[in-house]
Amino acid sequence: MTGRRRAATGGVDLGVTAAGIRFPNPVLVASGTFGYGLDYTGIFDPGRLGGIIVKGTTLAPRAGNPAPRLCETPAGLLNAVGLENPGVEAVIAHHLPALAPLGLPVLVNIAGENEAEYEKLAERLTGQPGVRALEVNLSCPNVRKGGMAFGTDPAAVERLTRRLRKRTNLPLFVKLSPNVTDVVEIARAAEAGGADGLSLVNTLLGMAIEVETGRPALGNVTGGLSGPAIRPVAVRMVYQVAQAVKVPILGSGGISTSSDALEFLMAGASLVAVGTALFADPLSPLKIIAGLEEFCRDRGIRRVDRLTGVALPGRGGVAEACRG
Ligand SMILES: Cc1cc2nc3c(=O)[nH]c(=O)nc-3n(C[C@H](O)[C@H](O)[C@H](O)COP(=O)(O)O)c2cc1C
Repeated sequence: MTGRRRAATGGVDLGVTAAGIRFPNPVLVASGTFGYGLDYTGIFDPGRLGGIIVKGTTLAPRAGNPAPRLCETPAGLLNAVGLENPGVEAVIAHHLPALAPLGLPVLVNIAGENEAEYEKLAERLTGQPGVRALEVNLSCPNVRKGGMAFGTDPAAVERLTRRLRKRTNLPLFVKLSPNVTDVVEIARAAEAGGADGLSLVNTLLGMAIEVETGRPALGNVTGGLSGPAIRPVAVRMVYQVAQAVKVPILGSGGISTSSDALEFLMAGASLVAVGTALFADPLSPLKIIAGLEEFCRDRGIRRVDRLTGVALPGRGGVAEACRG
């Protein structure tokens, strides 16, 4: 960080290096909630984010699931979008070139129906301008084939990660499903397969029923629950996984304030992603960045990355970060 930039942030270095990538700050936007990165340009400058994770991208275009696709729940949102996207060729031709000038790390979220599709996606996206990493979605609860079917079996996670590792030199963030009994086992499998980072968590499988009609509220019947309702589950999973792996963690699940983001960092995440909160307040990522900076400045913490994992067993809490 330059002297001028550091002065502008009150002497706090918000930059984070994870998986060999320098992020200007630790606050990214979560896949599927920020389109291809430019939907919000009328509201704020996306160049102020720590990075952008683009919508789930598949080999062929996908129409997604039947409507209704969204349903509000107490402190949460059920979605069953079903990975609607224009396919990787359109993403390469139209969306990535528009994002590249921002100069931010762009992570492309990929989803396949089988291992070969994931491999083709990885190969196709390697070397594309602006793409700094792949987020491998092994955890989408809203598509019948692929996705969560891979993400719940440790052997399948390790095998697929290993195959992808051979096909690309891009860092791989493997995105884990919370819909498992033992997330640590899956995290270890991804690390063993060569993941450079782990993203957790994706949405929790849920459903709602429209009582007036007695029919499921979502066209897909079940959907993925996101938002504040899932935050304690996500923080717990980050905390467990951080004790089991060495690779950096990108935490998500119900982050809407800087205090929420701090919980994830303290539980062991190096980076966080804001998703559902964007729908209620598109400016929330910027408020979170400002709040992290203020938290550090008020306590004399010079670098935000000093906070990662301070809540873990044997670590010294916020006092440890202040000493750094
Ligand atoms: C409408 C919607 C679409 C999503 N699409 C994707 C996707 O394409 N790929 C993916 O890996 N995760 C997807 N997610 C999951 C989010 O990236 C995020 O991991 C999850 O929602 C938890 O964070 P949040 O509670 O802040 O939203 C989607 C979430 C929502 C709400």
